[in-house]
Amino acid sequence: MRNLLRFAAAGVAGLGFARLASAIARFHATAGTKVSRRNFTRNAVLGGVALNLGLLGAGFVRFFWPNKTGAFGSALTVPASSIPEVGGTPFQYTVGKFYVVHNDDGLLALYWSCPHLGCTVPWAPNFGEFRCPCHGSIYDTNGINTGGPAPRPLDTMAIEVLPNGDIVVDTGNISTRPSHYEPEQATPYQF
Ligand code: FES
Repeated sequence: MRNLLRFAAAGVAGLGFARLASAIARFHATAGTKVSRRNFTRNAVLGGVALNLGLLGAGFVRFFWPNKTGAFGSALTVPASSIPEVGGTPFQYTVGKFYVVHNDDGLLALYWSCPHLGCTVPWAPNFGEFRCPCHGSIYDTNGINTGGPAPRPLDTMAIEVLPNGDIVVDTGNISTRPSHYEPEQATPYQF
C-alpha cells in the first residue's frame, strides 16, 4: 500500500513537473523575443495546471498515507520507569496491545490477543497468570498456555533496549513461539 501510494504520488508529481518544465522551456525559448499574448496565456494555463496537479498529489498522499505513529502496528517506547521488577506484575500497554513481563532472563513483550480466537487476554492478579475470558485458556507469566483450547503460547513482539533503560516494542513485528518457554525468548535487561 505504501509503495503504491508513493508510486501514485510520484506519477502525479512527475506529470506536474513535466508540464511545468515544458512550459518553462517554452517560455525561455520565447524569451528575448516578444512574448505573444497567445504564448503568455498558454504558459499561464499550463502553470496553473501544474500547480493544481501538485496540490492534488500532495492532498492525495496526505489523505491516504498510513499514519501509524504511536498506534498499534508501530514501534512504541516503554519508559524504564514502567518496566516491572523481576517477577512483578506485568506492565500493560493498552495502545500497543501487549504486556511487558520481566523474568530472570529478561523481558518479554506478550501480544495480548488469544491465539485461540483472538479475544483480549487479561492478567488475573489473583491467580498470577493470564486468563482468557472467552473460552478459558490460561497462560503462565511467560505467556505459555497451560490450559484451555489455546493452540499455542501468547505471541511475542520484538524488543529493543535503549541505553537509558527505556525499551522500544515493535508491535508490527509479532512472532509465534514453540509450545514451551526458552530463555532465548526473553530480551536481556540489565538496569
Ligand atoms: S479466544 Fe481465548 S480461549 Fe477462546
